[in-house]
Amino acid sequence: MNHGLKEYYVYIKGVYKRLSRFYDVTRPVLGLLRRKVAALTDMGDGGNILDVCSGTGGQAIAYVKDGREVVGIDLSPEMVDVARGKAVNGFSLAVADAANLPFKDCCFKLTVISFALHDMPHLIRAMVLREIVRVTVPGGLVVVVDYSLPRNRVLRLLAYSFIKLYETRYFSGFVRSGLEKMVLGERVRVIASYPALLNLARIVVGKKS
Ligand SMILES: C[S@@+](CC[C@H](N)C(=O)[O-])C[C@H]1O[C@@H](n2cnc3c(N)ncnc32)[C@H](O)[C@@H]1O
Repeated sequence: MNHGLKEYYVYIKGVYKRLSRFYDVTRPVLGLLRRKVAALTDMGDGGNILDVCSGTGGQAIAYVKDGREVVGIDLSPEMVDVARGKAVNGFSLAVADAANLPFKDCCFKLTVISFALHDMPHLIRAMVLREIVRVTVPGGLVVVVDYSLPRNRVLRLLAYSFIKLYETRYFSGFVRSGLEKMVLGERVRVIASYPALLNLARIVVGKKS
């Protein structure tokens, strides 16, 4: 593994080891968004869901509340411990690397990644997106929720400067690439894209062919 990637794994595990106990302070801000994501991507067939980089389980639990079975994976054992502590039926968890998912091809009806792609260097991000598409069934949904800054230049600069104060070192590289472009791939067609959090985030829904 090259030095930059090794450094990423050490850095990101350290960040979330420290943040795990406090991460759920984001709940009041993100709670409504989680429910919106679950409602917008309800396929009405009860199929299984993979939440990649599930953190403390906020998005996964919103799907479970809608009656879905969810598997969550995250690199940080401490974040997984907090999620496990919530003891939610229908939500199982594992510590794993999203760039090398421990699942066979085509086994989830919906794969979601929420507020995690901005925490990765470009190379890892591309690997993670490839893995997400690999494990999703043909015709299944790929759902990406993450930062997406406003188009207005002044608002964009203000939002960027503010978010950069608390975000990880990969955020700047991430916001330069458009979220829809990232999701779009040979095997995924973007079928919907919704603004969220006062235009500071987007919910992008892709369909695997
Ligand atoms: C900002 S948190 C988001 C957590 C959750 N998805 C949410 O919406 O609240 C980012 C999460 O991505 C995880 N993460 C970062 N890189 C990862 C990787 N390569 N594999 C698995 N998890 C990763 C971190 O450990 C952290 O829990």
